[in-house]
Amino acid sequence: MSELYRASTTAPVNIAVIKYWGKRDPKLNLPTNSSLSVTLSQSDLRTHTTASCSPNNKSGDSLILNGESQDVSGARTQACFRELRALRKELEDSKSDLPKLSTFPLKIVSENNFPTAAGLASSAAGFAALVRAIANLYELPSSPTDLSKIARQGSGSACRSLFGGYVGWEQGSKDDGSDSVAFQVAPASHWPNMRAVILVVSAAKKDVSSTSGMQTTVATSSLFASRASETVPKRMQEMQKAIQDKDFEAFGKISMMDSNSFHATCLDTYPPIFYLNDVSRAAIKIVESINASAGKIIAAYTFDAGPNAVVYYLEENEKDVAGVFKAVLGEKEGWAGERGQAVEANSAAL
Ligand code: PMV
Repeated sequence: MSELYRASTTAPVNIAVIKYWGKRDPKLNLPTNSSLSVTLSQSDLRTHTTASCSPNNKSGDSLILNGESQDVSGARTQACFRELRALRKELEDSKSDLPKLSTFPLKIVSENNFPTAAGLASSAAGFAALVRAIANLYELPSSPTDLSKIARQGSGSACRSLFGGYVGWEQGSKDDGSDSVAFQVAPASHWPNMRAVILVVSAAKKDVSSTSGMQTTVATSSLFASRASETVPKRMQEMQKAIQDKDFEAFGKISMMDSNSFHATCLDTYPPIFYLNDVSRAAIKIVESINASAGKIIAAYTFDAGPNAVVYYLEENEKDVAGVFKAVLGEKEGWAGERGQAVEANSAAL
């Protein structure tokens, strides 16, 4: 008898405007500060994942990403599988007629609709989709908040991709991580004219992974402690207010200052971590000149652990922001979508 169970889902990429950088517990991915992000539209950047299981599968758990088999033995993937199986087992124990899916090997098949190697936040969408696909397969009654605790263990920033719109991640204070969860600050419909243009400065894999970078920053940066304990808590309040008030100038200023602060702690790490390059700095200058010409902040840059720029702006300023970047860079192939266009940048163009 062929007995196969299957469920699919998609999860979008999120780009932080208040950055997560630093772990107080590396195993559970518990952060040293809260963070806040904007979830991009699914038509732009997302992971599509199908989870299936069958008693006939004798080959063990497996994961295929963009057609290539991946290692599932890592602690993070294993933590997600283990937690989800435990929840399914609880269900099976409470309802004896349920098939024992928790005992079958899992087969996960994922596809990104953007180049995985483009240095964008693919692990956030990847782990969020993996966790939700398995939760759907197991018919778990878990809320997005519950699932955010599991996705966080795959990749910290993944917990924020369980929600759409404007999303916070509360650092929490408990040792077991039960209060370190994502929450929605506002749905996308609250401020629907937000757009992002993504400048792919380099498609190379980052040379310092976020996990190792964070550990060295926490251990050596003298700027880090005040960022985590004073700067970010204040900005989290200000940013939530900016979003509630739909105040782009405040949103933009806090985003840019927080990106600068995060990269300052990277530079202050010993040995130093350089995620930005000359092209990134040229993109910052373009944003500054756009804002100077407008006489106010209409464009806001932010950079993750790599040189690629994400520039947020409002739809009504499309011509003055995305238009200026396109004019400088020339028309390049990218990802068109509701929330702006991603265009590729290279040092020659800038
Ligand atoms: O989730 P990780 O371990 O890939 O770390 C993400 C760190 C940043 O992207 C730099 C910031 C963030 O909040 O997403």
